[in-house]
Amino acid sequence: MTVAVAAPAHTDRLGDENSIWFKLTPLMKGGANPMLTLMQMGERYGGVIPVNMGGQRVVLLTAPEHFKRVLVTKVDDYIKYFDGLKPIFGKSMITHDGVLWQKIRMPQQAAFHPDMFAEYIPYFLAAIDSKMALWTDLAAKGEPFEMVEQTWTLAADMICKALFDRDMPFNPHFVFKCVKAYTDVMNHKSIRLKKVAGEEFEITEEDAAKAMEVWAGVPPEVFAADPREMRERTLLKMIEAVVADPNVPEFDQQQAIDELKQYLWAGTETTALTLAWAMYLTSKHPEAADRIRAEGEQVYGDRAPTAADYSALAYTRAVVQETMRLYPPIWGLIRTASKPDEIDGKEIKVGDRIVMFAYGVHHNPKYWDEPEEFRPERFIGNQKRVPYTYLPFGGGKRSCIGGAMSQVENTLALSILLRKFQPEYVGVEPPGITATVTLTPKGGLMFKVHKRG
Ligand code: HEM
Repeated sequence: MTVAVAAPAHTDRLGDENSIWFKLTPLMKGGANPMLTLMQMGERYGGVIPVNMGGQRVVLLTAPEHFKRVLVTKVDDYIKYFDGLKPIFGKSMITHDGVLWQKIRMPQQAAFHPDMFAEYIPYFLAAIDSKMALWTDLAAKGEPFEMVEQTWTLAADMICKALFDRDMPFNPHFVFKCVKAYTDVMNHKSIRLKKVAGEEFEITEEDAAKAMEVWAGVPPEVFAADPREMRERTLLKMIEAVVADPNVPEFDQQQAIDELKQYLWAGTETTALTLAWAMYLTSKHPEAADRIRAEGEQVYGDRAPTAADYSALAYTRAVVQETMRLYPPIWGLIRTASKPDEIDGKEIKVGDRIVMFAYGVHHNPKYWDEPEEFRPERFIGNQKRVPYTYLPFGGGKRSCIGGAMSQVENTLALSILLRKFQPEYVGVEPPGITATVTLTPKGGLMFKVHKRG
């Protein structure tokens, strides 16, 4: 399929009063971990907390039963809220609601069925191999490096190889740095303040415009790149087939481009953050790292792991799950109320922004014993849990399409990388947290890596 390069994405929403970025700025004042401020609010004011942020009513939900109401019981009355994120996600499925969302998601769903994982694993392993070659160099040099950048490029390589049948045709270090400049909340705040004061803000806007231009160019590069193996059953093939299908006119070429944007961002940053935090936690808990190594040794030894081996890596998978409990990449799920409602006696007005505080329930002692402790064992076996108290992938029909697949990626990567290397965290302790749309380590996670054996 040939695709036209989209015009540079718009930057007109930058600094817009309605932009999600501007609304997030009060969280930046929360010290090393702004999540703690929200948790204290939950303790003090209960499960439904309406607040006014920059002239907008925001309702913070902190109780799992209310998450269920918004995500499942009244799902159609709470729609997606993506102002300020459109340049990144375009009109991809993640931004839509109702019939249109269904029409876009349905033809892609099969690519994420667990039956496909066995086919993807060799490509995940190929990407992990490239990362190991790079880490061998880093180990020899002994220089510190930033872990999220490392895991992000790995996650992007895995997606390109497994889902698109392409080698990554772009420089992920450059591209992701550019887009991260766009999603930096503080940039948006300074633009907003200048806009309100009637000042010019060319410099930052220029940077953001450049970032979005780079970003808009990535999907056409992926489409144009040579396939690695001419595989027939890939997500890219499914997308091309639906673009060619006259019965789904809504799924046009721009839709295809935007779907790729969504996968290359939503499907990589989150996966990368999880693996980076897992590296941090296992570096702080060497007994867990050793147990992961022993499990890998016992389950797949010196051969390449298979889908059956993935199922048998119960402890390693539990480490990934516990990491997402402690550091959920999406710390809050955001919606807009499209109908009036009442939750726990509090009025919900049309247009209210609803923030379901996932991080808060993950850290609440009501639902988790010693929630601040790193205890992967919580996720081994069939342990009873209050519904909607663990939602790294969201919930209901809008939950993550790639959640199960990301666990395969991260479990295998963690197992293989820890067997070959000993990553040593050398950054500040404890690492600070920046809460943008994702839960990001402040200033990154600095590591050195040592080769084992
Ligand atoms: C650790 C890894 C991941 C985490 C924590 C994560 C988290 C999430 C969450 C919380 C949502 C729901 C957001 C909401 O309800 O507002 C979501 C949606 C989504 N995720 Fe993920 N995700 C991960 C990996 C992936 C991967 C690997 C892919 C694909 C390659 C992916 C693609 C998507 C898409 C397309 C949606 C939108 C689904 C829809 O609207 O129907 N994610 N993700």
